[in-house]
Amino acid sequence: MTSVIHKPIKHDSAPKHVAGSARYIDDLPEPEGLLHVALHLSDRTHAKILNIDLSAALAIPGVMAAITVADVPGDPDIAPVVRGEPVLANGVVEFHGHPVAAIAAHDLPTARRAARLVRVTYEDLSAILSIEDAIEKQSFLLPPLGLKRGDATAAIAGAPHRLKGDLNIGGQDHFYLEGQVSLAEPREDGDVIVRCSTQHPSEVQKLVARVLGTSLNSVTVECRRMGGGFGGKETQAAQFACIAAVIAARTGRPAKLRLDRDEDMIATGKRHDFLSRYDVGFDEQGRILGYELTLAGRGGWAADLTGAVVDRAVFHADSSYWLPDVTITGLCCKTNTVSNTAFRGFGGPQGMATTEYVIDEIARFLGRDPLDIRRANLYGKSANNVTPYFQTITDNILPEMLDELLASSDYRRRRQEIDAFNAQSPHLKKGLALTPVKFGISFTTTFLNQAGALVLVYEDGSVQLNHGGTEMGQGVYIKVAQVVAETLGIGLDKIRITATRTDKVPNTSATAASAGADLNGKAAEAAALQIRDRLAVVAGAMLNADAGQVVFADDHVRAGGKSVPFADVAHKAWMERVSLAASGFYATPDINFDRATGRGRPFYYFAYGLSATEVLVDCFTGEYRFTRADLLHDCGSSLNPAIDLGQVEGAYIQGLGWLTMEELWWDDKGRLRTHAPSTYKIPTARDLPEDFRVQLVSGRANPANTVFRSKAVGEPPLMLGISAWLALKDAVAAAAGTRMVRLDAPATPERVLLAIAAAKRQDAAMPTDMAAAK
Ligand code: MTE
Ligand code: MOS
Repeated sequence: MTSVIHKPIKHDSAPKHVAGSARYIDDLPEPEGLLHVALHLSDRTHAKILNIDLSAALAIPGVMAAITVADVPGDPDIAPVVRGEPVLANGVVEFHGHPVAAIAAHDLPTARRAARLVRVTYEDLSAILSIEDAIEKQSFLLPPLGLKRGDATAAIAGAPHRLKGDLNIGGQDHFYLEGQVSLAEPREDGDVIVRCSTQHPSEVQKLVARVLGTSLNSVTVECRRMGGGFGGKETQAAQFACIAAVIAARTGRPAKLRLDRDEDMIATGKRHDFLSRYDVGFDEQGRILGYELTLAGRGGWAADLTGAVVDRAVFHADSSYWLPDVTITGLCCKTNTVSNTAFRGFGGPQGMATTEYVIDEIARFLGRDPLDIRRANLYGKSANNVTPYFQTITDNILPEMLDELLASSDYRRRRQEIDAFNAQSPHLKKGLALTPVKFGISFTTTFLNQAGALVLVYEDGSVQLNHGGTEMGQGVYIKVAQVVAETLGIGLDKIRITATRTDKVPNTSATAASAGADLNGKAAEAAALQIRDRLAVVAGAMLNADAGQVVFADDHVRAGGKSVPFADVAHKAWMERVSLAASGFYATPDINFDRATGRGRPFYYFAYGLSATEVLVDCFTGEYRFTRADLLHDCGSSLNPAIDLGQVEGAYIQGLGWLTMEELWWDDKGRLRTHAPSTYKIPTARDLPEDFRVQLVSGRANPANTVFRSKAVGEPPLMLGISAWLALKDAVAAAAGTRMVRLDAPATPERVLLAIAAAKRQDAAMPTDMAAAK
């Protein structure tokens, strides 16, 4: 049988992506009478709104409507979790760039010109900008999450060595190629259809209904594809959909709202930057005995998903290591900056990066290769295998994977070569680091782990497939299509993938937490199995066989040496009045978490990975090149190794970009000054490691009962990028000729240069650390 599962099949839109013919919202034919919407953003950081004067904007010819929050017919609060996030500023602006008013006009240039003429009178209020300031003033969005096992304070006090310090980790703009965009069209009886670039059509539906003051059944949301989401369109697409819908309802005309790049970067949330404070006690072998950690994330002005993001940072602060006595606290800082949101890894990367940094510090303190310290602390298989949230890790394959990567990357020999190179090269220095990844799969908010699908077989044997997963380039559509084709024994050419729509599959979760293929694949499989069971009865009668003996493969149905085409069976079923449509549902089993006690099994399983990155630094300028990277990543039995390879490569580069070159910079007034590619550097093809070796694990099916024993892949490999940053730290230490160095993230060339200078000058960032050691 020709199988389509576990095969490197190209993305269903690949030819269209390459040809530029794949349509995104802004490419759709514009409906007649379309209005274009532009926003007026605040130019104050935190201020009371005394008056909004729309008259000058409305006076511009071609302007058809201008709205503020007062014009929202329903409930203006579009918060996804904790109430308090008005769709447009309500009486107060909370950050520089806060949307205050929306203007609709015949064409976009007119709308944008008019938006600038909105006059707002403010009374400034004091602002909190930094994480430090928020902690000092106890400005938090939500109560902290704490995990605790044993007595970390006592373990640290009793340990032979101790290091104490802090670390700043920067945020990251999503920089999806397609910015936020929505097109709302009024329909009969007050209904509206919204085409929206969103990871979460059901939530957009709910919030549009809320602002319009109507019920969910009169709102339909559709998304065929996004030009990237990366978490940035999980909650934050809704605001623009809601504004477009309010304008459409008010004017009776279709309305489109598309932000330009600068507005998108200024007005939408990003990856949370973090301040981590650690205190760690360890022995002569570098084994961690006690660990106290505070992870403070900058949430911005509103809660959005900050609670869950900081939770996931806390859940991943163990990285891949056994922490016997441990206390981890996550803080959700409230600041007068844009409200930060989901971003690939969802806080996990910040938690993991912190502990990888701490391990690196321990190694340097002891004068050992960080790899040895990692090995000494790695989770065991049957002992030392319980996380700080008391989930037992039953599927740990890191030890074997580490051996594999050590061999394939030739780590030990290259370590020696690099040390030899550095000894004789005064101004060019190399660095090398190898770091592990262990990432928990499932939404930590347990109820979100559900999905639905709708499979329609037509009487000619062709199939339409719909499910709650949204396509953002990650390939969930082709993966789920493979699952259905495999289940029905038909070719992928028989399956038409259709746009995600809330009127086909209701009440779906966001495509997020990397669980898109896991959840929707299982739901679609369940739907296809129902139809297959019904068809087996029909085919059994056609073939004079038991339904139980019928086999579906190669576009045919076979039994007892005879076969009939799948299409004939479908036609026969229709003639016999057998239903050819089914909806499928899936809920991840066996997961739970009690936030109050910090205990449970939040994750169905873990995905693993390892990377070794080598860098070459120019000590005159701080500039660097990644000379080699070796990646080994675990996708279980990959549903589609071509797609998964792309995910691993892309995620690594995105992680590397986050920790090394992408720098968000706010001035002392809280204005984001890096809001375009001119000032914000994302990695390009030229930033790829010169020698880039990427492997997926083979022969390691997921022991958990996932769809065809695959593993989620969307986010976990982002954290492979941590080795790029720590390779730079290694090179900085070589350049400074000191053991201990400080290197916050992102390690831009500027920061690398300053780190070398600081380490040389002081040798001293460490005396403080060393002094703390006994
Ligand atoms: N890959 C591409 N090309 N574009 C994206 O926007 N988003 C990532 C990841 N891979 C993203 C991507 C994020 S944040 C997640 S959670 C997953 O894809 C979501 O899709 P999945 O659950 O189907 O893997
Ligand atoms: Mo991904 S950050 O879970 O959308």
